[in-house]
Amino acid sequence: MNIKQLLSEKVLAAMVAAGLPEDTNPALSISTKPQFGDYQANGVMGAAKKLKTNPRELATKVVEQLDLDGIASKIELAGPGFINIHLDQHWLEQQLATIAIDEKLGVAQRGDSAADKVQTVVVDYSAPNLAKEMHVGHLRSTIIGDAVVRALEFRGDKVIRQNHMGDWGTQFGMLLAHLSDKLQANEVAETALSDLEAFYREAKVRFDDEEGFADRARDYVVKLQSGDADCATLWQQFIDISIAHSEEIYQKLNVTLTRDDIMGESAYNDDLPKVIEALTEQGLAVEDQGAKVVFIEEMANKDGEPSVFIVQKSGGGYLYSTTDLSACRYRSNKLAADRIVIFTDARQALHFKQVELVARKAGFLPEHVGYDHCPFGMMMGDDGKPFKTRTGGTVKLAELLDEAVVRAKDVIKEKNPDYSDEKLTEVAQKVGIGAVKFADLSKNRTSDYVFNWKTMLSFEGATAPYLQYAYSRIQSIFAKAGVEQANLASGFVIEAEQEKALALKLLQLEDVIDLVINDCTPNMLCNYLYELSSLFMSFYEACPILKDGISEQSKHARLALSAQVSKALKQGLDILGIDVMERM
Ligand code: ARG
Repeated sequence: MNIKQLLSEKVLAAMVAAGLPEDTNPALSISTKPQFGDYQANGVMGAAKKLKTNPRELATKVVEQLDLDGIASKIELAGPGFINIHLDQHWLEQQLATIAIDEKLGVAQRGDSAADKVQTVVVDYSAPNLAKEMHVGHLRSTIIGDAVVRALEFRGDKVIRQNHMGDWGTQFGMLLAHLSDKLQANEVAETALSDLEAFYREAKVRFDDEEGFADRARDYVVKLQSGDADCATLWQQFIDISIAHSEEIYQKLNVTLTRDDIMGESAYNDDLPKVIEALTEQGLAVEDQGAKVVFIEEMANKDGEPSVFIVQKSGGGYLYSTTDLSACRYRSNKLAADRIVIFTDARQALHFKQVELVARKAGFLPEHVGYDHCPFGMMMGDDGKPFKTRTGGTVKLAELLDEAVVRAKDVIKEKNPDYSDEKLTEVAQKVGIGAVKFADLSKNRTSDYVFNWKTMLSFEGATAPYLQYAYSRIQSIFAKAGVEQANLASGFVIEAEQEKALALKLLQLEDVIDLVINDCTPNMLCNYLYELSSLFMSFYEACPILKDGISEQSKHARLALSAQVSKALKQGLDILGIDVMERM
């Protein structure tokens, strides 16, 4: 159900009937004020300007041709040529009845119509570096990516997750040399690697200070790259343990990534010489001071110097860039992607611009395949500087999430002193993790944001606890009314303005999902859910359900509306990977 699209089609038909060209933009939008109706078509002004004709007269003609019988109760012409559309209440009731029996809540499914084909979307997200522990920088990539993936799947697209883990590169030489010594000293790998951060630091100190160690580390790199079996076993051990650390976090975070989604940098290793060969053959990569580089004229600086993209180091080693070129080829050819979406922090924006340009030129990325790098801003501390521990270290994600649950426990305990410890733990888990996720997901993706425990755990404002509370409040209404939510999918009556506002919101879910998947902006869904909850709260105040003197019909209609809100909230939060509970 996409009202905007439906009205756009109807208005366009009227515009064409009034003599305007087929490609006229009806410019439909949701009205900002109730006196402007529910939707507004503003396209007449632009069309009149082009034709150098009087907009008001043109709008009159369009309105005469506009057939919204049964859909709109009133069509008004306003100002220089705005067309205000007031939707008919009975039509809204019918639409609600339709979405109420649809398990996708009225959101159209790809493939339902010829114009809306299923797309194969490759989504590259999370991608921690396995040499170290996952830190807060990977939080954003993981949860934003996962929300977009779930939204795509909800709409019916085919999604292929790609966890492009950093499991390769020279730092592994140092780590493997250190690990090998530990195993020699009879330490168990799991114990040695229980704290990856500490392990990395120890290895680094040895690399910098211990005689001979750096040479051994370099030896390991050569052995690893040449496929030496012992070295590969050692590497695999390291990787497995590090992946297990990440998986623990995925589980805590309630994200959908599994081991099968891992396609780390190492997986491209064998293809890298072929990438260089292809680039060289095509004359794209050239020798420069011993290294292989691509000069990108299209990205020249203001002095006309081309952007330099190194694809092979002077010693013959490959880089992050080479791997990403190989990934482009794999994703377009083998995975048959229609669209590739990559989530990393904004500092990698230049890298992906270069990758795309070179990959397109080299034919690794055909024109019909979309390539969207979706950058995001940084998480900042209260001091406005990048989020760090009190001593200035990087914050480990695992510790941050544990702290969220502890803090949520305090908040919930205060509200519900009667909760058992078990119940408290269960609710705190959902609220704490939900709060961290929602606080992040609700921010404009590209800006930096300040991480603040107090605001994210508040029951007021756009927060996970607020939404989770709204959900459980509706459940308690059903419980008090003694009705099953499943029996509430019909009998809608829209009378009060609060009911109408709520109905409209419910029917706008598809628009929001489309925004989220086109622009990769889960914050649009966060806003939507917050507005939906707020509208519900206003509705509940204005239109009592359980008070004495309410007719059975009104009571049922209001319960039915509430049931639809409850479903949308639950589904919406599920797309964000946030759990709800019956009682909190
Ligand atoms: N491992 C990288 C990092 O932590 C992110 C990888 C993103 N994906 C890619 N195809 N380069 O910064």
